[in-house]
Amino acid sequence: AVMVGRSVRRRRGWRRVVRVLEELEEGCATPVGRLRQVVDAMAVEMHAGLASEGGSKLKMLLTYVYNLPTGKEKGIYYALDLGGTNFRVLRVQLGGQRSAIIQHNVDRQPIPQHLMTSTTEELFDFIATSLKDFVEGEGNVSEPWQGETRELGFTFSFPVKQTSSSSGTLIKWTKGFSIQDMVGRDVSQCLEQAMSRKGLDMRVAALINDTVGTLALCHYHDEDTVAAVIFGTGTNACYLERADAIIKGQGLLTTSGGMVVNMEWGNFWSSHLPRTLYDADLDAESPNPNDQGFEKMISGMYLGDIVRRVILRMSEESDVFGPVSSKLHMPFILRTPMIAAMHEDNSPNLTEVARILEETLEIPDVPLNVRKLVVKICDVVTRRAARLAAAGIVGILKKIGRDGAGGKTKGGSQIKMRRTVVAVEGGLYSNYTMFREYLNEAVGQILGEDVAPHVIIKATDDGSGTGAALFAASHLTSSSVVET
Ligand code: GLC
Repeated sequence: AVMVGRSVRRRRGWRRVVRVLEELEEGCATPVGRLRQVVDAMAVEMHAGLASEGGSKLKMLLTYVYNLPTGKEKGIYYALDLGGTNFRVLRVQLGGQRSAIIQHNVDRQPIPQHLMTSTTEELFDFIATSLKDFVEGEGNVSEPWQGETRELGFTFSFPVKQTSSSSGTLIKWTKGFSIQDMVGRDVSQCLEQAMSRKGLDMRVAALINDTVGTLALCHYHDEDTVAAVIFGTGTNACYLERADAIIKGQGLLTTSGGMVVNMEWGNFWSSHLPRTLYDADLDAESPNPNDQGFEKMISGMYLGDIVRRVILRMSEESDVFGPVSSKLHMPFILRTPMIAAMHEDNSPNLTEVARILEETLEIPDVPLNVRKLVVKICDVVTRRAARLAAAGIVGILKKIGRDGAGGKTKGGSQIKMRRTVVAVEGGLYSNYTMFREYLNEAVGQILGEDVAPHVIIKATDDGSGTGAALFAASHLTSSSVVET
């Protein structure tokens, strides 16, 4: 009798779990029609953000980058890359020819968690010390510019109101960072002060966002590059905009030129976005509620936590996961690399899924049908993220007239679509195959088969850091005006 009672309860629990899954699938639905609405909304918000300061949730930040590196840059440059999970120091030797990055040394380390919520001084002292160790470890004494102040490129991947191409103030933190005394302060100055505290004679020659570095590196190799997108801990995009489209920047630009615009698209919002209760809860419990709504549905910092919330709900509503594990209540315990590993588990018994459930969430002995359910949750959450990301990319293409909607010539033939390259970088894209495949598939679906072959999504490596070195170099050499 006991056995029968239990199996009935289990079955009832199973039915409830299936309903939770169905609700999730409905809530996360991204048919192409809806993606096109997101495309349109993105393009509209871009217009609004360019028209006036505060005109949209999209900040559309001016970068003062009028020129991208040409490939003529020469010499040895250092760069710092502070973005999300990792912190990097780079040394790049440029050979004066396109594609001639001769040497490229990187030191990468995780940012100690406590520094993300400490003080400006502590964070920047850590950065300056790492830089100093790196520079000294490289044994740079024989370099020709010894004795001169060294030029440094600084990639600082948070929303910055630039005051020039090498300075700017922090608007707000994203991605879990929260150092209140830093907001409103000049980022380059904070770094330079820390460097001088550590006895390091360096000057910030370029202050850029990671998207801008990625754009620069990809453009350095391929001049058809028009935009760059990051899918990492956070998500964001930048692109080349025409001067006359940047209404709020009038006076800064001559009509012949253009400028790179940092969209800060993580903060994009539209009623067309498929939002679930899990998203609302995640947002409400985050350090930045009502902020970065697009980012919270897409980027690596959050995907694992959405999946955790769904599993928690299922566990609370049924006994298919056994008693509710206390780990399920811990925010961010399920990291996105883990959901990638579960999603891409090809073993017949889903042993990787079982291992992660047991080791990370302390949910042991999960039967195969429940493991499959977990894979399905990862699939639904990641697919939505990738497809929304794709809509964002096409939104940019639409804004700059590269979505193939250019129309027909007088004779009625389609105007030839120009080859268009979008640079993409970040662990979510490079390490999570399903995310990458869903994204590329959706770009193709939205653009259609006539246009899609002209749009190339190109993965770059280390552009966010290398790009900063290129800018540090290019500010010393002549550079070409951005053509749009
Ligand atoms: C966050 C930051 C943005 C950065 C992105 C990717 O959205 O606000 O500046 O580009 O993460 O790192």
